[in-house]
Amino acid sequence: MAIVNAREILIPAAEAGYAVGAFNVSNIIMMEGVIEAAIELKAPLIIQTSVAPSKFLRPDIVAGAFRTLAESAPIPICLHLDHCNDVDYCKICANAGYTNIMIDASKHDFKTNIELTAQVSDFCHQLGDISVEGELGTVAGVEEEVVVADGQELLCSPDQAVEFVERSRIDLFAPAIGTAHGVYKSANPFVDFERLAQINRLLNGSGVKVPLVVHGGTGLAPEVVKKLVSLGGSKFNVSTDLKHTWINAIDDYLHEHKTDYNTAKLDSAAKDAIRGKIKDWIDLLGSSGKA
Ligand code: 13P
Repeated sequence: MAIVNAREILIPAAEAGYAVGAFNVSNIIMMEGVIEAAIELKAPLIIQTSVAPSKFLRPDIVAGAFRTLAESAPIPICLHLDHCNDVDYCKICANAGYTNIMIDASKHDFKTNIELTAQVSDFCHQLGDISVEGELGTVAGVEEEVVVADGQELLCSPDQAVEFVERSRIDLFAPAIGTAHGVYKSANPFVDFERLAQINRLLNGSGVKVPLVVHGGTGLAPEVVKKLVSLGGSKFNVSTDLKHTWINAIDDYLHEHKTDYNTAKLDSAAKDAIRGKIKDWIDLLGSSGKA
């Protein structure tokens, strides 16, 4: 049985000081490529979809394909709904078979964020073995339908983090620490390492209770990624890098084989590129061999 919720694979990761890659997919072939790479490296894995691809593909189809692939995989795999700001859609995906749900009510005031997040926590915990991720502060950039303009991001207050986690009853916590969705404009973006370390001390100092999530993996220098992992980031989200890999592989293939009209080979080229990219990320995050 390889299907797990996120908590089950993140607690051991946080305890041992590695991170589990949480990779956004937008189609089923991409999902296959990600899973094949993780199997090859014996790494625990989180597959995630944003709301737009989930709606486009249909949540029951995403969860059905996931179930088929994950049940026969010799590694633990979680299916996560990423950045959903609609409580009802969170419930639809939980019912469909997602095993971790992120309710992103971070654009609301503190009290409303807690209330909406707690609604999803209670629903998922009552429904079954489904863990829940919440966010405090806002992550700049664009993640499908969630757009936060530059300069409008708000970093997470460590004191509020403790109250938020307790009152929202979440299983994993995404504090805004300066990382951003999409491509960084600077080669050396500001990342508030000390803030992450402080939040981790406050929440997990006497044993890991609430694993921490780092958003905005694309474009961070390898040494920044490693430092964030060493300071407690145990779920590491990567999306834009995979979109670029997928589209560039198709572009390259078409450039050389446009007149083949062979869709299977085109799909294979894109899947191979994704597999290679995921293996690089798993190595960087230190989760190879941890399944
Ligand atoms: P990137 O697109 O910057 O990799 O961010 C991914 C992410 O944080 C998804 O929630």
